[in-house]
Amino acid sequence: MNQKKIKVAVTRQLPEPVETRMKELFDVNLSNSPYPLNIDELYEIVYDCDVLVPTLGDKIDKNFIKEAGKNLKLIANYGVGYDHIDVLSANNLGITVTNTPNVLTEDTADIAMALILSIPRRIKEGVKKLEDNEWDGWAPNALLGHRIYGKRLGILGMGRIGQAIARRAKAFGIQIHYHNRNRLPVKLEEILEATYWESLDQMLARIDFLSINTPHTPSTFHLINARRLKIMKKTAYIINTARGEIIDENALTRMLRSKELAGAALDVFEKGNEINPRLKELDNVFLLPHMSSATIEGRIEMGEKVIINIKTFSDGHTPPDIILIN
Ligand code: GLV
Repeated sequence: MNQKKIKVAVTRQLPEPVETRMKELFDVNLSNSPYPLNIDELYEIVYDCDVLVPTLGDKIDKNFIKEAGKNLKLIANYGVGYDHIDVLSANNLGITVTNTPNVLTEDTADIAMALILSIPRRIKEGVKKLEDNEWDGWAPNALLGHRIYGKRLGILGMGRIGQAIARRAKAFGIQIHYHNRNRLPVKLEEILEATYWESLDQMLARIDFLSINTPHTPSTFHLINARRLKIMKKTAYIINTARGEIIDENALTRMLRSKELAGAALDVFEKGNEINPRLKELDNVFLLPHMSSATIEGRIEMGEKVIINIKTFSDGHTPPDIILIN
């Protein structure tokens, strides 16, 4: 494929340095929308393109892929999560799919750690008291939270982000437990001082904080369902910086309301930005608008990865971040 002629369609406005570089390298159709395009707009931009650069919120399903146009050869996702793309259908039609791993690991782990620290220590409630001019001064019983040091953190999904959270949590004196499809090498477990639980249920019964760091796939949808939430201690907190669909949000809301769980800190929700209003009302929750990877550095590096994937692919090589479905 001749690089000058490669046609790239981008579905969302990207950081300016990324767009500038793309303009230099490709025949690129950029988007000026910060929000997802509707299906007709998506068809319009992908028509006659060799490469589509979608991102979170774009529904790249089987039907879309089938109708996307005969030139489409690469879907270079801007983002690490690819649960919005039907990779198998793309591959079946000879379309390669890539993502942007690694570059947002540390940023996401920072926010997960911030949430682990914030929710047991009631940071949101403290800030609100001040902002509402309701603070009367220090008092022995005011805003008492729970100690973080010495507690047990269970990490569900011990990939790159899970491990980056474990490193941080260990430095705070937290005991690391994890459940993962595959056990980590013993050397790594020793470095992280991490205890492996083959049974998720057994781990859930013993931990004080649960951090969700597994991708959203058909087998992780509602993995944390009402039954599993009930296994957890009433004093436990849940932190989710992965995907909302992994937790049954309605069951979680019910249990937080009835104090069967101590609290939750969530950066992601089951239905995007349509958050259960009952969840939003609660004091024992700390909610963020899906911003755990939101750093300028990370977003530029994500763009750089997209560009590298497109360039290696168009040069006839296997792109470094090809998604292989196993
Ligand atoms: C962010 O959530 C991403 O998947 O990149």
